[in-house]
Order: sequence, then structure tokens, then C-alpha cells
Amino acid sequence: MTQIIDGKKISTQIKEELKEQVAAYKAQGKEICLAVIQVGNDPASSVYVRNKKNACEYIGIRSLAYELPQETTEAELLSLIAELNDRAEVNGILVQLPLPAQINEEKVLNAISPLKDVDGFHPVNVGALCIGKKGFVSCTPAGVIELLKRSGISISGKECVVVGRSNIVGKPMALLLLRENGTVTVAHSRTEDLKTVTRRADILVVAVGKPRMITADYVKEGAVVIDVGIHRDEKNKLCGDVDYPSVAPHCSAITPVPGGVGPMTIAMLMKNCVESVSV
Ligand code: GUN
Repeated sequence: MTQIIDGKKISTQIKEELKEQVAAYKAQGKEICLAVIQVGNDPASSVYVRNKKNACEYIGIRSLAYELPQETTEAELLSLIAELNDRAEVNGILVQLPLPAQINEEKVLNAISPLKDVDGFHPVNVGALCIGKKGFVSCTPAGVIELLKRSGISISGKECVVVGRSNIVGKPMALLLLRENGTVTVAHSRTEDLKTVTRRADILVVAVGKPRMITADYVKEGAVVIDVGIHRDEKNKLCGDVDYPSVAPHCSAITPVPGGVGPMTIAMLMKNCVESVSV
């Protein structure tokens, strides 16, 4: 029987735990505050930002919303970030990506204080992850580790293959699996004979951004398959990077889309916010 990893249920558990922690902080007079900045009104970003604000409210985290116009200049955004870096009551700062073309994303992410970087995108936090030091970790890969742990799947000593090498998912995912003592391979669009590589995996994490690309012939019998992708297919139905109907019968465990990795990203953002109070 294939275990279907229920990200909705696990993320709800995490949010309940965080709610209790936040209440305990409040009892000590400590309030947690997240600043969320959106530039322009990309519809997908608006949905993500709304979900983040709702999660804050549910858990008891104060959120400050900055909705800036599409034509905001880089200097204006950098000046807002500088102000938020200086405000002691702001624990976390999140700039929703993507940013409009006139703004240099790297410059903006580097301007956020590493101590308030709850997205885990600042080079100081990425570097800390790389050398095994404490720091904020990118939320989606951190969510994948939490899903595996809370589903009773051990990583230590396992062949882990990550497909995708983005800065936000693929690279930190590989580092986190390594930190958990997995034997890690990172495959990507230039990998030769990808199927041979993915078929080695005991744990296969897919973050390629191509709808239903991973079919059953990419997967070893009994593997654990984690699907980070989210797309709308030609019938407007949500699907992942993995062709779930053909792959699921061959797995020992698999994440569905929706309801797998997706809900974990916000839960881990909330976890980073709660941790930000003690950095
Ligand atoms: N845009 C898409 N995913 C993310 C994310 O995890 N954080 C931010 N800030 N923007 C995003």
C-alpha cells in the first residue's frame, strides 16, 4: 500500500504547535511581528501574500502589510527595507517574489537583515546552511524535511536524488538532505540519462517546474517521491511535476498535489517567524 503523505494535516499540526508557542511568548509580553511586502499586483503573488497574512492571524503573529505600486523604484523599496531592519518590533521581513523588472531582486534580498530573513534567502543564511550553522532555512525545502520526519521516513544513509537546482528549492534541499546524513545527488536539465539517476533514489524530490514530467519509468519500485511542483493543466486542474496516477502505485510513499508540499511552505514560514523572536 502506498502511503499518501498528507501535507495539509501535517501543516495543521505544526500551526497548532506554533499557536501554543506564540501564546506562551505573549504571556511573557513578547509579540511576534512579520512585515510582508508586495510590489505590484501579480494575481498569484496576491494569493500567496493573503495566505501568509491569514496564517499569521491564525497563529497570533502580527503582520504588517506593505502593498507598493508596480512602478516602485529600487531605491524606494531599499529604503523601506532599511526602515524595517531598524525597527526593533519587526522580527521578520518578507519581500514577495517576483519583483518588477526595474528592481534588482538580488540587491533587495541582500538588503534584508539576515536576522530578520524569515524566507532564508540571504547569502548569510544560505552560507550558514552550507556549513551546518544555525540560521533561517528556505521554507519549501525545510517543509519537505518536516514531511519526511513526521511521516516516519528516515533519511540517514538513503540515496536521495533532487531534481532541480534552484537557489530557493533544489540547492537548499540537497544541503538539508545532506545535513540529515542522506547520500545526495542533484540532477538538473543538463543531466545525461536522467532516468538512470532518478531510478537510484530511495527518496526522490522533484522540483523541475514541468507538469507531470516524472512518469513511472523514472522511479524505483518502493521509492519515496516528493513533488514540489504546482501547475494548472490544460483542464485547469492542479498537478505537480510528477505524473501521480502512473507513479503512485510504485511508491512506498508519495505527496499529492495539491495537499502535499504546498501547505508546508507557509507552515515553515510561520515556524521561522516564531524562531525570529529569539535570534
Ligand atoms: N515567490 C514564490 N515563492 C516564494 C517564497 O517562498 N518567498 C517569497 N518571498 N516569494 C516567493
